[in-house]
Amino acid sequence: MEKLLINGGIPLNGTISCSGAKNAALPMIAATILSDESIVLKNLPYLQDITTMFELLGSMGCEILLNENMDFTISTNNIKEKEARYELVKTMRASILVLGPLVAKYGEAKIALPGGCAIGSRPVNYHLDALEQLGAKISLKNGYIEASAKKLVGAKIKFDGVTVTGTENIMMAACLAEGITELTNVAREPEIIDLAEFLNEMGAKIEGAGSDKIVIEGVNKLSGTEHSIPADRIEAGTYLAAAAVTKGKITINGINPNRLKKVIDKLKEAGAIVNTNENSISLEMLRDKPKPVDITTAPFPEFPTDMQAQFSVINSIADGVSNIYETVFENRFMHVQELNRMGCNININGNQATIEGVDRLYGAEVMATDLRASASLILAGLCAEGETKVDRIYHIDRGYERIEEKLNYLGANIIRLPS
Ligand code: EPU
Repeated sequence: MEKLLINGGIPLNGTISCSGAKNAALPMIAATILSDESIVLKNLPYLQDITTMFELLGSMGCEILLNENMDFTISTNNIKEKEARYELVKTMRASILVLGPLVAKYGEAKIALPGGCAIGSRPVNYHLDALEQLGAKISLKNGYIEASAKKLVGAKIKFDGVTVTGTENIMMAACLAEGITELTNVAREPEIIDLAEFLNEMGAKIEGAGSDKIVIEGVNKLSGTEHSIPADRIEAGTYLAAAAVTKGKITINGINPNRLKKVIDKLKEAGAIVNTNENSISLEMLRDKPKPVDITTAPFPEFPTDMQAQFSVINSIADGVSNIYETVFENRFMHVQELNRMGCNININGNQATIEGVDRLYGAEVMATDLRASASLILAGLCAEGETKVDRIYHIDRGYERIEEKLNYLGANIIRLPS
């Protein structure tokens, strides 16, 4: 297995560009199933999760072509298998995103039921309840979700809990349902707005994305379009946090700061100087130690759970004690044991992590457990004294495009060790 070897203690300095957002791209790729015509997607990040989504579409019979500009043309009008097999679903839970589009377009889908994962049990009951309310018949058999419907019919649906991919799944399904669907208690993440814009370009009629209520008027068919994937706010936030822990000075281009408002507020509270303009964010950390910041994760517009692990590192070298409350996932503190091996002083009590700032972190051999946990280990390695070896970095390759290249470009010293 490949590893990353990090020589810590170098302040990051320079300018980089943000890549396309994984969590915006995945639902858009799934949404191509709804279209009668080919769709061109630009600025797709080169990530394992994107490859897995293409593998899934390929296994159904879709055609995916790549041109010399790295634009993908996806044609889904030849789907034979309306199935997502366990081999793929177990490697990427977001495979569930094909459920809504398959049932809406083809009247049937068979999707392996995702199991629990490193950050929690993560059931899909909200997706299934909502799809049933659109008229689908759903049964669970031999570890698979089997769903069918002659024609989905619009309904008023209130989600029992806020779910990002659940909102996306049902929003996609409702595009081809008969009549009007009204979704409430929906997720308001920027990726929901991105997906709605993409679907509307394909001819859908969606209003309200980004608010608590989305209204979708069903149409008979969706057509082709050409669309560019927007920038990854979590990637941007991760690099800003990396600059903060290394006392660096960086600029990230191509990212709308409004998507990171809560993260920027907390970086400022930690003592970083953050300047923004329409399409870029700069951060400079002049303080010797960050100020400790309390954080409570919650659905957008609150502080994102996907930035929680990275802030654990900022707080670990801060001047005092802080608390992090994780309210989205029940088990998203897997990074803590590894961070403590590098000298952090973090105690977990239920969904609360209490972090006492220490004078310095020390390099160690550590193991990544999930995507954002791996990011936090890299951040810790960047500010630690000595050498850090991060194992199981396939987790990071799922969600960060060319991470060591980008960080090395900012002055870091990271080598990818072959397996
Ligand atoms: N939940 C249920 N039932 C459901 C769906 C969700 O109980 O049917 C619970 C989950 O167990 C969790 C909470 O609701 O406790 C929120 O989960 P949500 O469904 O919003 O998460 P998701 O859609 O599976 C997406 C991102 C995650 C991100 C979360 C929260 C994608 C592909 N994934 O997951 O991204 O953490 O929203 O913002 O969009 C990552 O990129 O590292 C990542 C994990």
